[in-house]
Amino acid sequence: MAKIDKRSWAEPYRMKMVELLKVTTRPQRVKALKEAGFNTFLLRAEDVYIDLLTDSGTNAMSDQQWAAFMTGDEAYAGSKSYYNMEKAIRQYYGYKYIVPTHQGRGAEHILSKILIKKGDYVPGNMYFTTTRLHQELAGGKFEDIIIDEAHDATSEFPFKGNVDLNKLERLVKKVGSSKIPYVCIATNVNMAGGQPISIANLKELRKFTKKHGIRIIHDMTRVAENAYFIQQREKGYGSVKVRDIVKEICSLTDGATMSAKKDALVNIGGFLAINDWDTFEEARNMVVAYEGLHTYGGIAGRDMEAIAVGIRESLSDAHQAARVGQVEYLGKKMESYGIPTVKPFGGHGIFVDAKAFLPHISQDEFPAQTLAGEVYVDSGVRTMERGIVSAGRKPNGENYHPKLELVRFTLPRRVYTQAHMDVVAESVAMVYDRRKKIKGLKMVYEPKYLRFFQARFEQLK
Ligand code: F0G
Repeated sequence: MAKIDKRSWAEPYRMKMVELLKVTTRPQRVKALKEAGFNTFLLRAEDVYIDLLTDSGTNAMSDQQWAAFMTGDEAYAGSKSYYNMEKAIRQYYGYKYIVPTHQGRGAEHILSKILIKKGDYVPGNMYFTTTRLHQELAGGKFEDIIIDEAHDATSEFPFKGNVDLNKLERLVKKVGSSKIPYVCIATNVNMAGGQPISIANLKELRKFTKKHGIRIIHDMTRVAENAYFIQQREKGYGSVKVRDIVKEICSLTDGATMSAKKDALVNIGGFLAINDWDTFEEARNMVVAYEGLHTYGGIAGRDMEAIAVGIRESLSDAHQAARVGQVEYLGKKMESYGIPTVKPFGGHGIFVDAKAFLPHISQDEFPAQTLAGEVYVDSGVRTMERGIVSAGRKPNGENYHPKLELVRFTLPRRVYTQAHMDVVAESVAMVYDRRKKIKGLKMVYEPKYLRFFQARFEQLK
């Protein structure tokens, strides 16, 4: 009898087409990184071997999505593809009215403009870069109401995306509910390391916000990954399907912004979804100024078809088991080499704790930015800084100093194999071995908005 103590997951698909990658040498990578100002966003993608910069728009589409793609209706107005996408959003997420946008930030822009007035406060379970910027540009102030555990890379709390209701209550007492247009709730909180919120917490939040007449707007970019964690971790949900959990999450909120480039398994697209007619009407009107007509909002008909199919595929339990399973595989492999990472492992990537990795580099010398560059030079693996550079500056010009100083190893969906994960983990281990010799960076160019995308650095001597 074979001694099998567990059964492995495997991808519920096989490959039909592959994309060839360029393998570079170390001197080539040293040169490329210098030319990119030590910012992985400024590298040319063809100089990257394994691209873990982001899971956004980097997904592999299925044969069914490509088939649907070919049926895209590119009519300027009233496209059949819009109605197919609307039908899928209503069926699987349950929101009433939909305004398509070219991607998530298009929806954030429109929503912020409609709901936020100057001097308002927008509480949220940790910030996201574009979301907070749009809130601030509309005259609002972001308030972090996530539980303290979320800011602690080592806390193993299973729902680090939860809201601390005491923090919210204090804010309501201080500024009054009329100054809070909505609470912004992200599922599988990106900046916390891809950490879920529980249904129990969301239900309490719903009760509290109802009492105070405050809306909940759901950043549902990674809602299916959050639902999978609820299935795995929350009492009473072990035998509930991911698709049903997603529906329940959405039903506890009043509207949503979505970047379909993540969960929904496509390369571009997004939408704003809302249950109240008045906000919808204003958004449908405003979208024509910023994105495109209300039946395409900046997305091609073919992409709307792919989104409709992708939403359905993203809700499969087997898909999520393989998706999150691959992230966990990478996390465990890194753990076996002693690499400090955010725990529990997240839904869309492994977040390496750069403060613990490079304790001799102060946060003002950009340890996470430094580490992302070192990993690239070692192996051609591209990752992203999620620390002080991403956090940017407060409206008064001071730098935010986030507790979390992380490098994100983000996994595109259905793209890389377990062997790629081995190469990644081994590369990080090599850099870890010589970590004491690594020096920090100084910023030599800083753009005004979302500086992490275009900032440039030089190596400290
Ligand atoms: N909300 C969250 C939680 C996100 O992660 C993103 C994008 C957005 C909103 C904005 O959506 O890019 O379609 O405009 N996150 C990407 C990332 C960029 O790499 O994490 P978008």
